[in-house]
Amino acid sequence: MFDLTGKGALVTGASGGIGAAVAKALHAQGANVAISGTRKEKLDALAKELGDRVHVLPCDLRDRAAVVKLAEEAEKTVGQVDILVNNAGITHDNLFMRMKDEEWDDVINVNLNSVFVLTRGILRGMMRRRYGRIVNIASISGVFGNPGQANYVAGNAFMEALAWHRRARGLPATAISWGAISDTGYLARNARVLKILERRIALRPMTAAQGFVKNQTPGGAVGAVEHPVGRHGNGHRSLPVFFVWCSIVSVR
Ligand SMILES: NC(=O)c1ccc[n+]([C@@H]2O[C@H](COP(=O)([O-])OP(=O)(O)OC[C@H]3O[C@@H](n4cnc5c(N)ncnc54)[C@H](OP(=O)(O)O)[C@@H]3O)[C@@H](O)[C@H]2O)c1
Repeated sequence: MFDLTGKGALVTGASGGIGAAVAKALHAQGANVAISGTRKEKLDALAKELGDRVHVLPCDLRDRAAVVKLAEEAEKTVGQVDILVNNAGITHDNLFMRMKDEEWDDVINVNLNSVFVLTRGILRGMMRRRYGRIVNIASISGVFGNPGQANYVAGNAFMEALAWHRRARGLPATAISWGAISDTGYLARNARVLKILERRIALRPMTAAQGFVKNQTPGGAVGAVEHPVGRHGNGHRSLPVFFVWCSIVSVR
């Protein structure tokens, strides 16, 4: 694995399952890490567990002005943001015709608008320094679509598109489009939805550890970054930690 000593990272949704794992991984590699979310107590607990080189920056990503401020504060607190992990995400599923404005707006604000505003804010410094890594933690729903998730699909498709857009210009970025993870994150807390998804999209949920083993295969992990679906037959992108590493390696 590589050394991130002296690099600064910002991870959104670090109070959640995948975000916390990603923040721990980046920290373990030596990075200064800014962790964000709305639940300050969760972020404080993670910061305490990790020790030094961690900065807690609570932010409600539905609030555009707060997102602008988050980009500025992150730059100040970690020195410079070299790695941005857009991980925070929510679902408010409903059939398209029944979807309420609030369900649409909340998901679009957190999963799409905040990614746009935050990435734009952070990119200024990255462009000046001519160094930056953007990793979007997305969902397979953004690639295949998923009934009842028009809002969530739109957000995740944007994250994929943003990564493609940057790569098309020879700039480092990737989106990791997960299938269902069964032992960490929001689906692990919601067995009913996990079952429905399993039936509906015919993708077998995996534990993070299973994903890790699967992507140890030759060419697996880095290859999967280039081929969002299909290579592993289940749409998975492996253990978050491992894939963020691979993603950063592959876009270096
Ligand atoms: N778990 C899976 O199987 C799976 C599959 C595909 C894709 N994903 C994607 O992976 C990402 C992480 O998911 P997860 O499973 O780790 O979910 P999670 O445990 O529910 O964590 C979600 C994170 O998003 C943050 N968040 C939600 N609303 C926010 C807001 N208004 N402002 C700021 N932060 C907010 C939460 O912070 P607070 O609670 O502190 O507000 C939390 O840290 C999501 O984008 C999700 O779509 C997950």
